[in-house]
Amino acid sequence: MTLSHDVQAIAYLISATLFVLSLKGLTHPSTARRGNTLGMAGMAIAIIATLLGAEVQSYGFILAGLVAGGLIGAVLAARVQMTAMPQLVAALHSFVGMAAVLVAIGTFLNRQAEGTLNAVLMGELSAGIVIGAITFTGSVIAFGKLQGLISGAPVRFAGQHALNAVIAIVTIGFAVHFAMTGSELSLIVMTLLAFLLGLTLIIPIGGADMPVIVSMLNSYSGWAAAATGFTLHNNLLIIVGALVGFSGAILSYIMCKAMNRSIINVIFGGFGSESGGGEDSAGAAAAEKGVKSASVEDAVYWMEDANRVIIVPGYGMAVAQAQHALKEMMELLEARDVEVKFAVHPVAGRMPGHMNVLLAEADIPYDHVLEMDEINPEFASTDVVLVVGANDVVNPAARTDQSSPIYGMPILDAGKAKNIYFLKRSMKPGYSGVDNLLFYQDNCSLVFGDAKDTIEGMVTSLKGGGH
Ligand code: TAP
Repeated sequence: MTLSHDVQAIAYLISATLFVLSLKGLTHPSTARRGNTLGMAGMAIAIIATLLGAEVQSYGFILAGLVAGGLIGAVLAARVQMTAMPQLVAALHSFVGMAAVLVAIGTFLNRQAEGTLNAVLMGELSAGIVIGAITFTGSVIAFGKLQGLISGAPVRFAGQHALNAVIAIVTIGFAVHFAMTGSELSLIVMTLLAFLLGLTLIIPIGGADMPVIVSMLNSYSGWAAAATGFTLHNNLLIIVGALVGFSGAILSYIMCKAMNRSIINVIFGGFGSESGGGEDSAGAAAAEKGVKSASVEDAVYWMEDANRVIIVPGYGMAVAQAQHALKEMMELLEARDVEVKFAVHPVAGRMPGHMNVLLAEADIPYDHVLEMDEINPEFASTDVVLVVGANDVVNPAARTDQSSPIYGMPILDAGKAKNIYFLKRSMKPGYSGVDNLLFYQDNCSLVFGDAKDTIEGMVTSLKGGGH
């Protein structure tokens, strides 16, 4: 069975509509599942309509690719930890980049043999190869940094920006020459230089800034896909590429805004620290700095008599996988008529919606989870704030210290509560690498340990009747 061009176009239109609805669904945790389902339905229709198109001549290689890719994808998706999501996404972008390069080179060779090359097509091929190659090596480096295979620290050397500018200009020069002449030498040089540019652009960026970079590479992979869509005369690929291109760009912008940094600052800044104090010496280091440490029982003592407890989850909750223990603690406190709420900062964790996903996974009701603007007025009348593996998102330095890298970032008003307990393992700073001024407030104590162990200790204490 072969679909006519018109039927295929209608199928693509339905797919494109489903993708737009999918993106809309993904904007809120309560509709995210539906968004995913709509996206999967759209992709299924797109794949079937493409496979039944008149241009497909044989199914052997396609089936082999589908089975191999499908199997690898299914195993990866089933096994990946939530904290490893950014590097999985980076790895997937690298495939999109490489696919764009290979499709463009394949198309060039075919059309050259047929003698059907034209100026417009050559422009599309150049763009597809350059964007695809940058996306490929950039994503591989992002993956390596996030996976810890290469150092996550910013790699700097003198004249770096000038070198990147020179490589970019020479690449564009060869791309224009290739588009105008079809020179195979220019094709090879342009492709190699674009691969190199992806590497030199991403290697200087600190591992901690990788989420923004992954989102930017997501955007590039969309543009690479759109260029491939033009090459293959596939309207759906053009639409999907543009959707991915724009949504990745918008997401990078939102992330930068929530961190109060410009995208230029992320790309050329080098931010974040990989170092800090040791875990074993946490208590001693705290005492030395004049920071109070407290026990699980201290925190439980105040929580069970509280009217309201606000939990601020952060990256450490994801590392510790403490969300299920938190749900159990929430239920035990609610059984004692304590109101429990969760305060989610827009950039808590390491990727957009990170905390929402984990809290939803533990079946914490959506009405308990409040955004920063909704919950900030409530902190002043709250008895206990439990900061579970969060740090930067409650650091008052963002308001008061103009020299701080997080200056200007909006924060959760945790410091206004009567008592604040930080659950963390050491005196190490968070993502931004800066000391948290809240630690030195009279109403604040640190409960050292892995967040999951600490919460489980609290659950045991609450079950045992507390004090
Ligand atoms: P962070 O400021 O990074 O602090 C995380 C804290 O978790 C650290 O203080 C760490 O202290 C603690 N921790 C780590 N593992 C733990 C464990 N197993 N048990 C207990 N505590 C643990 O986190 P945040 O407050 O969520 O802020 C997020 C930061 O990431 C912001 O600066 C934001 O700009 C940045 N960022 C976010 C995103 C997105 S989109 N979410 C993207 C890029 C960057 P110890 O090591 O002492 O335990």
